[in-house]
Amino acid sequence: MKIPKIIIAIDGHSSTGKSSFAKIIAAKYGLIYVDTGALYRGVTLYAIRKKLIDSCNKIDTEALDKAYDFINLEFRTNACDGRSELYLNGELIEREVRGLEVSGKVSFIAALPHVREFVDKILRMYGERKGVVMDGRDIGTVVFPNAELKIFMTADAGVRAARRYKELIEKGENANYEDVLQNIVQRDFLDENREAAPLRRAEDAIILDNSKMSIDEQIVWFDKIVSQRWN
Ligand code: DC
Repeated sequence: MKIPKIIIAIDGHSSTGKSSFAKIIAAKYGLIYVDTGALYRGVTLYAIRKKLIDSCNKIDTEALDKAYDFINLEFRTNACDGRSELYLNGELIEREVRGLEVSGKVSFIAALPHVREFVDKILRMYGERKGVVMDGRDIGTVVFPNAELKIFMTADAGVRAARRYKELIEKGENANYEDVLQNIVQRDFLDENREAAPLRRAEDAIILDNSKMSIDEQIVWFDKIVSQRWN
């Protein structure tokens, strides 16, 4: 089965497995995968390192507004396994941006309209190439409202926390289930209630609730959509 060179927008709640799902369909159908949340995480890491966000999540927006020219975020392909990895000013930050510190602050940074403009510019550059799968929160509503295929992923918060907790433990992080659950609930709230580009389902997005679905079942679900639309 083949997909034409289109934009596939995958939005939804945090820790619903959007990136795993998007990576598999990108590899299967020969599309480029762009993890848009990673870019917000990259800006957040920069802000943490430069002390532009404090322990109460108060942000020095004036200083951050002056910093965009000095934040170079790019995805590079790992030569060994073909994975796409995020670099900040030439430094590999893939691992650091997934940690709890960045995860706890990223929604505050992502709520800033100037940060969103900065990230959207990078995303539209990738979108020009077409044949891309992007996962995020506002791809189908704001960044690419004309995306040819939109999917909105969701799952029960407890199920998401258990998955995320397992992932962190497997990576050797010092995680606690209650903290992970709290982080997910807080991120849902912040993502859905911020003023700038809040998380919501685009009217023409197809819902994928994967609370009780394995990743293989989700791919079968996606293949069915592809065969209905393009074959
Ligand atoms: O998908 P993720 O958990 O890596 O996203 C990190 C944060 O970035 C999350 O709080 C929501 C935000 N985000 C966003 O606001 N818009 C996007 N397109 C992608 C992510």
